[in-house]
Amino acid sequence: YERQDGKPFRQRLLVVANRLPVSAVRRGEDSWSLEISAGGLVTALLGVKEFEARWIGWAGVNVPDDVGQKALTKALAEKRCIPVFLDEEIVHQYYNGYCNNILWPLFHYLGLPQEDRLATTRSFQSQFAAYKKANQMFADVVNKHYEEGDVVWCHDYHLMFLPKCLKEYNSDMKVGWFLHTPFPSSEIHRTLPSRSELLRSVLAADLVGFHTYDYARHFVSACTRILGLEGTPEGVEDQGRLTRVAAFPIGIDSERFIRALDTHPVQEHIRELTERFKGRKVMLGVDRLDMIKGIPQKILAFEKFLEENSSWRDRVVLLQIAVPTRTDVPEYQKLTSQVHEIVGRINGRFGTLSAVPIHHLDRSLDFHALCALYAVTDVAIVTSLRDGMNLVSYEFVACQDAKKGVLILSEFAGAAQSLGAGAILVNPWNITEVAASIAQALNMSADEREKRHKHNFAHVTSHTAQEWAETFVSELNDTVVEAKLRTRQ
Ligand code: ADP
Ligand code: G6P
Repeated sequence: YERQDGKPFRQRLLVVANRLPVSAVRRGEDSWSLEISAGGLVTALLGVKEFEARWIGWAGVNVPDDVGQKALTKALAEKRCIPVFLDEEIVHQYYNGYCNNILWPLFHYLGLPQEDRLATTRSFQSQFAAYKKANQMFADVVNKHYEEGDVVWCHDYHLMFLPKCLKEYNSDMKVGWFLHTPFPSSEIHRTLPSRSELLRSVLAADLVGFHTYDYARHFVSACTRILGLEGTPEGVEDQGRLTRVAAFPIGIDSERFIRALDTHPVQEHIRELTERFKGRKVMLGVDRLDMIKGIPQKILAFEKFLEENSSWRDRVVLLQIAVPTRTDVPEYQKLTSQVHEIVGRINGRFGTLSAVPIHHLDRSLDFHALCALYAVTDVAIVTSLRDGMNLVSYEFVACQDAKKGVLILSEFAGAAQSLGAGAILVNPWNITEVAASIAQALNMSADEREKRHKHNFAHVTSHTAQEWAETFVSELNDTVVEAKLRTRQ
């Protein structure tokens, strides 16, 4: 790519993910507004700046008409985004069905759907067919925009079939695939009816990446045990062809959060929040309203803490900000009512005429409000039952250099491996232990808080999203060069 401005050459990166960094909302026949999408994948990818990146993905909306598709394609082009248009039926079977009702719970150790096993088995085939069809649709868009020399980086469990589709089109394409969720133990993966086909498709990539060494090891074990292939220290080998497998722990754009703290809107929010919660310690949970986040467990642990520590009842408040997500999937609908019921019960039990112990909001907060909340928080609490990494914990740490608050963190989040030394690690299934950790956090000395924060802050500011992407892409380039050298020998 020739640059007119004399700046150094940057490799072009095609980032392919189910969800684009912006989601579209229709305002008229041919007018659209674009909003930042929620979730860790988008947060991390938005932190990746030093590439000539194009994004390929779904804009989160059904656009059946040509006029709408043309207008949206144009609006997205300004953000360097290229849409993949998925119709309602595909979204239902591929996204709601196979991705979010089957793969997502399975990869987070929640098992395959249980309610009606036979119905699940019957619908499984059509959902898997839709999954493959959707992946082929993504591949078609990538192929249309691919130019020689591009690096194609596929993301997440939605697109496990994509590396194979791309390599069938052009075996010289540099293809990487990164999983943002855990990869479960091979004993879990082997329960999946399409277990082998998915593994083989992912293995078509040149480089396969995970957040932690454990997830990478599970993947290699699944390939050796289920496919009978050979695992090596570099990855997985099949008839002389190596697929490189490695861990690439993700990060955030920490500078963006740190800089935001000094801005006027964030300072305004901080002032309001400090006034509003004067005399009370603030505990904070920020999650998508997802069953993997352990929100009911978190709230029940807070209830136990209040039960056992009556002197804290009017001195602490839990703010739980839970953005609704995947609302067409029945399991998510059930979770919403379950959380509302528990919060209502606890507020009824411990609330007074002037204050309630839990503020639960089913909504997303804008960036400035979120930064301010992180900054005024005394204790952040993440109780994921499983979580690929959990970037909320990173964002909290980035905003706490003044306050040095405490992070309570599930040992089942990938972040436990990087922030474990500074956080209080808990088993979210053990309500008694989590309740005790709340007491420990609220009573922690300033020295201890500072020591713990220092460790985590150093990690969050030195392991950024940009560094993550650079490491992955450079490893992908090297892997392809090495593979070429090997075949020539
Ligand atoms: P996941 O990817 O499973 O959602 P992460 O913790 O890795 O989990 O990332 C979540 C991202 O979504 C973070 O960047 C966080 O700021 C954002 N987010 C989650 N809940 C909310 C919310 N209620 N309001 C605003 N942003 C949110
Ligand atoms: C997780 C997944 C992402 C996904 C995000 C939000 O972070 O790993 O791939 O984009 O959740 O979920 P959604 O279904 O709204 O895209």
